[in-house]
Amino acid sequence: MATSNSIVWQDAEVIASTEIADRIRRITLRPSTPQRVRPGEHLKVVVDIDGVEATRSYSIVDATEDGSELSLSVFHTPHSRGGSTYMHSLGVGTRLRIAGPLQDFPLRVGAPDYVLVAGGIGITAIRGMASLLRRLGANYVIHYAARSPEAMAYREELAAEHGERLHIYFDSEGTLLDIPGIIAGATPDTELYMCGPIRLMDAIRRAWHASDLDPTNLRFETFGNSGWFQPEQFSVTIPRLGVSTEIGQNESILEALEKVGVEMMSDCRRGECGLCQVKVLEAEGQIDHRDVFFSDKQKTASTKLCACVSRVASGVASPESVPPGRSVQLTIDVP
Ligand code: FES
Repeated sequence: MATSNSIVWQDAEVIASTEIADRIRRITLRPSTPQRVRPGEHLKVVVDIDGVEATRSYSIVDATEDGSELSLSVFHTPHSRGGSTYMHSLGVGTRLRIAGPLQDFPLRVGAPDYVLVAGGIGITAIRGMASLLRRLGANYVIHYAARSPEAMAYREELAAEHGERLHIYFDSEGTLLDIPGIIAGATPDTELYMCGPIRLMDAIRRAWHASDLDPTNLRFETFGNSGWFQPEQFSVTIPRLGVSTEIGQNESILEALEKVGVEMMSDCRRGECGLCQVKVLEAEGQIDHRDVFFSDKQKTASTKLCACVSRVASGVASPESVPPGRSVQLTIDVP
């Protein structure tokens, strides 16, 4: 398991786990060394995926004043990298290894107005920011989109706390977020904070950068777990090392290569630091870049990818429609 120098691991006990929306559980932990939590902070959690330890990052959705109880909300998808299946299986009393609270998504206080955008489980990173902005008397709006009313966590609590500042959208009802409208309504000093699926964040990022708005006023959080294609199994070959292995639907290239003994560099393991980058020699299908490290230009060139989150895909909408026994091939070299 890779850790950065500043990360300190500690024990935590699961003290509650409740389903709060379709495929979303709220899991409350009691860390052995409590620390105060600031908006935008997350925990790293050691998860067990088919007997192999891995780390996953989850935003802290809320916490007690002294940090003695921290709540996460975890979305379970059958095509996840395996961490959410483990998290959903946790019972009360289970002991975990955690690191944090860690801050990669700080809220800058003092802007004249704020736009907060959450897609699905992305609300976990946004909710604490919204609460703080309300307490500070700041000028803010929240745009929150989900698949359906059943899939929207914390809807009632947010409505009670934020009233007309909360705008909600459901795919199932065709009420879609008006990205051009949001961008057109932003002033030069507006700060926009977002967390959600890569398609939503990419659309906002493109619209923001196409406008005259200050690029540094756009902030986002990503955990590298959503992509342009559904994850499917594929093969990776490293000719220089004579290594060839299959990457399962629920694992990353990084995890699979570590499993077969390839020495890999890594730190964030969520597509932000670029430490795990590998050279692409040949790729069948399409490279599904899920990182925020490479630029659009670098992603289009696709000569490198972040092995902790990015994948290849046959390019079909559903992995189930890939012919049996057939997986796309990716040939790489590692540093
Ligand atoms: S380990 Fe940081 S981008 Fe992969």
